[in-house]
Formats: sequence, C-alpha cells, structure tokens
Amino acid sequence: MEQISECLCRYRDFNFVMGEYTSAEHIDSLQSFEIRDSDIFLATYPKSGTIWTQQIIISICEVNGGLNEYPNNMRQMPWLEYHIKSDDFSLRPSPRLFSTHLTPALLPPGLKDKRAKVIYVMRNPKDNIVSFYHFSSTCGYMPTPQSFETFLEDYLDGKVLASSWFDHIREWHTKKEQYNILFLTYEDMILDLKSAVTKICTFLGKNLSEAEIEQVVEKSTFNVMKNDLKANYEFLPDTIVQKGAYMRKGKIGDWKNTFTADQSERVDQLLQERLGDLSLNFIWE
Ligand code: A3P
Repeated sequence: MEQISECLCRYRDFNFVMGEYTSAEHIDSLQSFEIRDSDIFLATYPKSGTIWTQQIIISICEVNGGLNEYPNNMRQMPWLEYHIKSDDFSLRPSPRLFSTHLTPALLPPGLKDKRAKVIYVMRNPKDNIVSFYHFSSTCGYMPTPQSFETFLEDYLDGKVLASSWFDHIREWHTKKEQYNILFLTYEDMILDLKSAVTKICTFLGKNLSEAEIEQVVEKSTFNVMKNDLKANYEFLPDTIVQKGAYMRKGKIGDWKNTFTADQSERVDQLLQERLGDLSLNFIWE
C-alpha cells in the first residue's frame, strides 16, 4: 500500500483509509473470497446514501426474524474491504449482507455469476461533493480539507477515499451486465421512499405485506434514522467521527448553498466529458 496523504493509502489503483483494518493481503484475498448465492451486496461511492440503504436492506431482511442479530448496522452489513480480525466473513450465517465502496475490478470474481445480488446507489455529484466535504471536515479518518475549493480539486482529481467518482460510476455502469444488479439513485429514494423500498423488496425476492413495507419506510426516514443508535453510526467513537456526521441534512440540492456558478459549470462540463456517453439523468433539486 502506498501512503498518498495523511489518512489515505492507495493499492491497485484505489484509495483506502489507512489503519489497522486496511491491508493489501485482505484486498488480495477478496479475489478468492467465496460468494454464496444468498449474499447481498450494497455498492456505493462514499456519501451516496450508503447507511440509508443499509438500513432499508437490513429492515427488509429482518422481517420475520430473517437475520442473525448484530449490535449495529455496521456490524450487520460490514465493509467487505476492511478486515476486522474478530469477524471472519466466511463463518457468517446466510444471508450475509455486505457493504462496499469498491469497484468491480477489486471485488470477488464469484460475484459475477449473477446469483448473489448487488444494489448500487448513485447520487448526483454536486450534492455528493458537498456531503463528502462536510463529512471529511468532521471525520478523523479522512484528511481535513482546507477549504471547499481545495476539496473540490481533490475530489475532481480522485484524490479522496474510493478514488474518482467519475471512474466509480463508469466502472459500475459499464460492467452492469456481469452482475445481478439493481441501480437506484439517492434522489429517487428521497422523492419516493416507498417505491424504492418496494423495488428493493422485489429485487431481493422478499414478499412483504403492505404493513411491513410501511414499517421499513418508517424506520428508514431521516428523522427516525437520526435517532436510531443502531443505524446512525453514532456508535463510532468521537475520535473517528463526530456525532451526527453521517446524518447531516439528507436533502437534494444542498450543493446550491456551497457551489459558485463557475464550480457548478465545471462539474457539468466534466460530467459531459467523462460520462456523457452513458446518458445518465441526474436530479439536481
Ligand atoms: P448529507 O451529507 O447531504 O446530509 P453515506 O451513508 O453514503 O455516507 O451518505 C451520507 C448521506 O446520506 C448524508 O447526506 C446523509 O444525511 C444522507 N442520509 C442518511 N440517511 C438518510 C435518510 N434516511 N434520508 C435521507 N438522507 C439520508
């Protein structure tokens, strides 16, 4: 692993946080990690609605006691790329739930057999940048940005956790045929949470009643999650991240409070240059 900043290291063209849970051996070991048909993966670029979608997936799978209980959502749905020695993923009972910020090239090849399920959540890049900027300012395992301008430069250059947003989106979109995958956007989830929950249920093959779907929706609303100690990541110590950092505003369009017109145009231009051929539609407000 090559250290690239105070808190980040790079391995196989991807940026990781440094620390006891990050190792080249673990990343390499994923190439032979055995996937089960019942595995469910959530893949996101950071600050795209990861912990929100975790809560939805866990709440769906929990119905009728369908899951082994863990003390919080991070333990219930751990990050595949970080290795906690006391948690041997191969010994976990099915169904196993994993979160990941990795791109397809680094994931276990067995995921491509199209049986295990992957849910990919994308967020519009301007809100993603602002969310990432605020998070970096409050988080002990990320470099603290000097200003929004400097953070924007780093983000657009891919010098942040999980590397370039543009590469992440391209990698996942162009490889989608290889996976059993559901694409969702943060904005669709904001605009119609019940539809998003229903789509996830259908994709996971979970036949929930109307009342059970309503319960999942209720548990996944911003205000309920903000006070849910299993879901809001306030179980992490203050030295790692300030309380409330994961649940900041939860809105579409907050970028307008931070971006200048020039910065916004620059992102629009880069979007066109780097992802224009994918014909993606973004909801900006
Ligand atoms: P903001 O910083 O814009 O508020 P991640 O989980 O990938 O780190 O993403 C964090 C972002 O998702 C934060 O965005 C957070 O507020 C938002 N979020 C978390 N739970 C949410 C919910 N239930 N509803 C809406 N947004 C939510």
